[in-house]
Order: sequence, then structure tokens, then C-alpha cells
Amino acid sequence: MKSGRTIAAGFIVLALTAARARAQDPAEQGRALLQENCARCHAIGKTDTSPLEAAPPFRVISQSYELDRFGRYLQRGITSTHPDMPEFRFDEETAAAVVAYLRTIQE
Ligand code: HEC
Repeated sequence: MKSGRTIAAGFIVLALTAARARAQDPAEQGRALLQENCARCHAIGKTDTSPLEAAPPFRVISQSYELDRFGRYLQRGITSTHPDMPEFRFDEETAAAVVAYLRTIQE
């Protein structure tokens, strides 16, 4: 019983450390956000195919947008390119994290 509790506590410490490590890497944080909010339609990696054919893969996004400007679009909301979509709005830090990730996958 006593050793069982010790093991459980060990897991909790581990999880918190992992969360801190993720938060310290903006690109990884950005990837997680895109995975959660966008990946059901858009390809978010270097070689994957968009689940929704009409949605452009994010690795070509710098062909349409200058990435610094894209960060500001994310903060204003990107409804204009998404007529059928719920509005996405990112705060400054989140937008920067997304852009940091996008830079790592551009072709
Ligand atoms: C329900 C499906 C869906 C989801 C979820 C989705 N998108 Fe899209 N997105 C599309 C489709 C379809 C298009 C292309 C047609 C259009 O422009 O309306 C598109 C186009 C875009 C474009 C324009 C690309 C260009 O080259 O002009 C951007 C930028 C974009 N999406 C960003 C995002 C981001 C960021 C997210 C997540 C926060 C997201 N999308 C989530 C379906 C989706």
C-alpha cells in the first residue's frame, strides 16, 4: 500500500515535468494546438495528406502568406478563409507558437 502511493506520486511529478518541457518549446506547443484544432481537415506535418481534400496542407502556407503576417491573422481570427468554420482566434503567445511550428515544416 505504501509503495503503491509512492509510485503514483512518481507519475504525477513526471507528468508535470513533461508539461513544463512542452510549454518551453513553442514549436511543439504550436504543433499540439494545430493537431487539436486543425488536423482533422489540414495536413500539419511534412509529408501527410490533408484529411479534407480542399484544405491546403500547412507546409505550403508560406507560399500564400508571409509567416510573420500570418501570426497576426491568427490573432485577428481567420474566418474569412473559413466561411463554414467556427472562428479561430489565437492570443499573441499562441499565435507565435503556431508560427514557430509552421516554420519547421515549410517546404
Ligand atoms: C472543418 C475543416 C477545417 C478545419 C478544422 C480547419 N480548416 Fe483551414 N481550411 C479548410 C478548408 C476546406 C480550406 C480551403 C478552402 C477555404 O479557403 O475556405 C481551409 C483553408 C485554410 C487557410 C487558407 C490557406 C491558403 O493558402 O490561403 C488557412 C490559413 C487555414 N485554413 C488555417 C486553418 C487553421 C490555423 C486551422 C486550425 C485552427 C484550420 N484551418 C482548421 C478547412 C478547415
